[in-house]
Amino acid sequence: MNRQWLYAQQPQGKIGTDTFEWAESEIPVPDAGEVLVRTRMLSLDPANRAWMMGKTYREALEPGQVMSGFAVGEVVESNAAGFERGDIVEGDWGWQDYAVLSPDRLTKRTGDVSLELLVGPLSVTGLTAYFGLLEVGRPKPGDTVLVSAAAGAVGTMVGQIAKLMGCRVVGTAGGQEKCDWLVSDLGFDAAVDYKASGVRRAIAAACPDGIDIYFDNTGGPVLDAALSLMNLRGRIVCCGNVSQYDVEKPAPGPMAVPGLIVVKRLRMEGFIVMDFYDQRAEAETRLSGWVTDGRIKAVVDVIDGLENAPEALIGLFEGTNWGKRAVRVS
Ligand SMILES: NC(=O)c1ccc[n+]([C@@H]2O[C@H](COP(=O)([O-])OP(=O)(O)OC[C@H]3O[C@@H](n4cnc5c(N)ncnc54)[C@H](OP(=O)(O)O)[C@@H]3O)[C@@H](O)[C@H]2O)c1
Repeated sequence: MNRQWLYAQQPQGKIGTDTFEWAESEIPVPDAGEVLVRTRMLSLDPANRAWMMGKTYREALEPGQVMSGFAVGEVVESNAAGFERGDIVEGDWGWQDYAVLSPDRLTKRTGDVSLELLVGPLSVTGLTAYFGLLEVGRPKPGDTVLVSAAAGAVGTMVGQIAKLMGCRVVGTAGGQEKCDWLVSDLGFDAAVDYKASGVRRAIAAACPDGIDIYFDNTGGPVLDAALSLMNLRGRIVCCGNVSQYDVEKPAPGPMAVPGLIVVKRLRMEGFIVMDFYDQRAEAETRLSGWVTDGRIKAVVDVIDGLENAPEALIGLFEGTNWGKRAVRVS
């Protein structure tokens, strides 16, 4: 059987397990030119929640469809040239055991790389950190880089890449335990618990020379604080807005933003990782080299079982993940 999670209904406020519905159907059969893939790992991403709220960089989710999501899988049957049984592939086929896909929806992965690395650090997550920091943020040695959701999938990679670039790195994360871990295990220079009171004061103390690059994964109060602490000609890399995904009504934008951007000559720029996929091969080679030689620790937080995917996603908004959250399906 093909076990699936369907997207059942748009959440009003926070997502819950009733956002999803379990279903079972026959394993699909590939036609000529198609490939049958078995899911090995699912990537859990805050964006899965954002897709429920309307059109983003992709169409909004429709109730009744298989819940969308990036996955890594293994070809079990192929009627398409270039794909063979046993090939490891990645793509966006959602929360299910099996999917039939056309080759243009699959990327073949080669080399002796673990599924844990393929589901995040050496794929979308790592590439997001890499391109966002290096292409949008453009760090220089000695810059102070602040990154929010620093103990998460993208944040852990951003902080470590920024250290490799010779920057001073400060992270924000929920809770003292995560903050201590960022400094002791991942080499951050300082970390600030954004859930404690006085977050602006704490970030100011951790960034005594101001902020040159703010890598924004969260929006919300950390963005407000960072804006007021940016240095002249600083760069704000708008990667995501996780503080506003799992709410009934996103907060209105801060009124002071345009003035601060003018006075400090800031560049505030959004990006989607796919914008840079023409440079993907080079980026993967560099990331893989850093992970292999131990200069970057790839932290992957794996939960076993497709049945646990809803709880795994809900946990992203409660901060239960450390590093990249993934679900092992088979
Ligand atoms: N632009 C792109 O192409 C692209 C690609 C991938 C991801 N992204 C974005 O990158 C960001 C990080 O994604 P990720 O996959 O690395 O997720 P993640 O950081 O591994 O997981 C989300 C984290 O957000 C934090 N969080 C939850 N609610 C929060 C709130 N209200 N305020 C502040 N922090 C909160 C939690 O950590 P705490 O314990 O610290 O609260 C949680 O661990 C997201 O905004 C995502 O949409 C963008």
